[in-house]
Amino acid sequence: MNKGNKIYEGKAKIIYETNDKNLVIQHFKDDATAFNNLKKAKVEGKGVLNNRISEYIFNNLGECGIKTHLIKRLNMREQLIKKAEIFPIEFIVRNIATGSLTKRLGISEGTVLSKPLLEYCYKKDELEDPLISREHIYSFGWATIKQIESIDKITLRINDLLLGIFRGIGIKLIDFKIEYGIALNKDTNEKEIVLVDEISPDTCRLWDVKTEKKLDKDRFRKDLGNVIQGYQEVARRLGIMPEETNISEVNFGKTTSIKFKKK
Ligand code: TMP
Repeated sequence: MNKGNKIYEGKAKIIYETNDKNLVIQHFKDDATAFNNLKKAKVEGKGVLNNRISEYIFNNLGECGIKTHLIKRLNMREQLIKKAEIFPIEFIVRNIATGSLTKRLGISEGTVLSKPLLEYCYKKDELEDPLISREHIYSFGWATIKQIESIDKITLRINDLLLGIFRGIGIKLIDFKIEYGIALNKDTNEKEIVLVDEISPDTCRLWDVKTEKKLDKDRFRKDLGNVIQGYQEVARRLGIMPEETNISEVNFGKTTSIKFKKK
């Protein structure tokens, strides 16, 4: 598989073309941003950890019947993925109220929701990814009713699976954001909806069950310190990083060495 030109560079990832028109390479950067790019830093080792964590989660979801864009991890920072036409929508699932939900609607922080709450945001940086309704999606043709009905079902199934994966390692899944696209299934030669992007501490809120310590990007957003240690703890508990591995984040910008178990 040959790596070709850069097709797209986002805040945390870069997409490169390959010599197969249906496949691209997703590269995980160490860049962290929050509040739509207002706050930026390099968190050394974040890309490597997110690549590993997201690979692990996508593979697990795949084994449970969820269709994803992931073909395989290529190296420390890159994955080979199916090229997909991405819906311009962020799908957010909330199990416990925090973040923008508490700010927007005055719901008390930490309220356990009686059932998972699904939200949709329009992916548009200039507009700061505004919250939208299903009607907006249909009116502006961002996805069809049939596609959203199917995506909602997959999303709730993913929530159930992720709740289990994280609960099993002593972590509460508070909320998360996922994205979908349409990609070619080479076996059936038909296009289908697939989970794309990543699932990692960048895109989930993950709290330790006992202490409620945050193990996700809120450590960066809220200046809580020890950002990489939070991500490292998630990887360690998932069993994809050996106990003795030490990532010392002395300061953003300093070199960090990470060792992983061989596959
Ligand atoms: P929020 O409470 O800030 O709306 O975030 C909800 C969830 O979505 C949380 O797990 C963080 C994630 N998220 C992203 O992955 N990317 C984003 O741009 C935003 C705003 C949130």
